[in-house]
Amino acid sequence: MKRRVFSGSRPTGRQHLGNYLGAIQNYVNLQDEYACIYCIVDVHALTSLEDTGSLQKNIYDMMLDWLAAGLDPRKSILFVQSRVPEVMELHTLLSMVTPLSWLLRVPTFKEKVKLQPHNVNYGLVGYPVLMTADIVLYKGEVVPVGEDQLPHLELAREIARRFNNLFGQTFPEPEAKLTSFPLVLGLDGKEKMSKQLGNDIELALSPQETIERVMTAVTDPARRYRDDPGHPEICNIYQLQRYFNPLQSDSIAEQCRSANIGCVDCKTLLAEEINSTLGPFRERRAVLATKPQYVAEVLADGAERARVIARETLREVKQKMGLL
Ligand code: AMP
Ligand code: TRP
Repeated sequence: MKRRVFSGSRPTGRQHLGNYLGAIQNYVNLQDEYACIYCIVDVHALTSLEDTGSLQKNIYDMMLDWLAAGLDPRKSILFVQSRVPEVMELHTLLSMVTPLSWLLRVPTFKEKVKLQPHNVNYGLVGYPVLMTADIVLYKGEVVPVGEDQLPHLELAREIARRFNNLFGQTFPEPEAKLTSFPLVLGLDGKEKMSKQLGNDIELALSPQETIERVMTAVTDPARRYRDDPGHPEICNIYQLQRYFNPLQSDSIAEQCRSANIGCVDCKTLLAEEINSTLGPFRERRAVLATKPQYVAEVLADGAERARVIARETLREVKQKMGLL
C-alpha cells in the first residue's frame, strides 16, 4: 500500500513564490509515489482573519493555483477542512492529551501574539492541535511543508506519541518533508515571504506586474551605488536567481561582485526567468478560471472521499478513549 501524505495550507488566496517553492512543488511531485491528501484549512484561517467575507473567494483562488500547478484530483484528494467536520471533534479530543505548556512555547504562537496583539484568541493557542488533528485524522505519515512549519510538526509528533502511549498504538508519527527551497524570504529580504506581511510575489501576476514587483525588492544593503561591488551570498534576489536561473547564476554572482551588472539588470533577468517558468502555469490557470463549476465539483468530491477515512479514524479514537 502507498504511504499516506497529508498537508494543509491556509486559504490565503492567490499563492506566492514561498508557497510554491516551499510546499506546492512537493505536493505535486509526491502524487505518484504516495496516497496524497491536500487540504485548504479554512478553520485555521479564522485564527487571524478579520474579514471572513473574502474566505470563499480565497479558497477558489487558491484552488485555481493548486490545480494549475499540477495537483490532480484523479491522483490526490483535494478538499476544504470545514467540509469534513470530524476534524473539529478530533481536535477537542486531542486537546485533552496536550499539555498547555507545550502550546505556549510554540514559536509561531509567540509571533502571532506580536503580529495581532488585538486578537490573541483561544484558537491561536490550539492552532497546532487542530493541525495535528488534520494530519492524524488521515493517519498521515509524510507532511510536505515549508521550514516555518517544523515546530508545528514536532508538536504533532509529540501529541501523536502521547496519544499512542496513553491509548495504544493508533497514529503514525508524521514526518516533515522539505523542498530544496524550504524558506523563501520576502521582498524586504528579511522576513519569510508571506501575504500577511505584504512582501510576496504572487504566482498569478501578469508578466508586467511580476517585473514591477521584483523591482521593489531589497537587495544587498551594502551596495548603495551602481559601482559598488555586490555580495550575492547575502542577497535574497540572488537566492531566487539560483532557483529560476540555475545556468546563469554563477556568472551573475561574478558580475555582481565585480559591479559589471547592477541590481536593476539582475532583477530584470530574474523577472524574465520567473515569467518564463510560470508561463505554462498561468495559461492553465486562465483556462481553469473559466470553469468555476469544475473547481466546486473537485472540492465536493474530495470532501466526500476524505470523510470516509475521517469517520473510520474518529470511531477508532472514540473507542480507545472510552467514549464508545
Ligand atoms: P500558509 O500559506 O502559511 O498556510 O503556507 C502554506 C505552505 O507554504 C506551508 O507548507 C508553508 O510552510 C509554506 N510556505 C509559506 N510561506 C513560505 C515561505 N516564505 N517559504 C517557504 N515555504 C513557505
Ligand atoms: N499550519 C500550516 C500553515 O500555516 C497549515 C496547516 C494546517 C497544515 N494543517 C496542516 C500543514 C496539516 C500541514 C499539515 O501553513
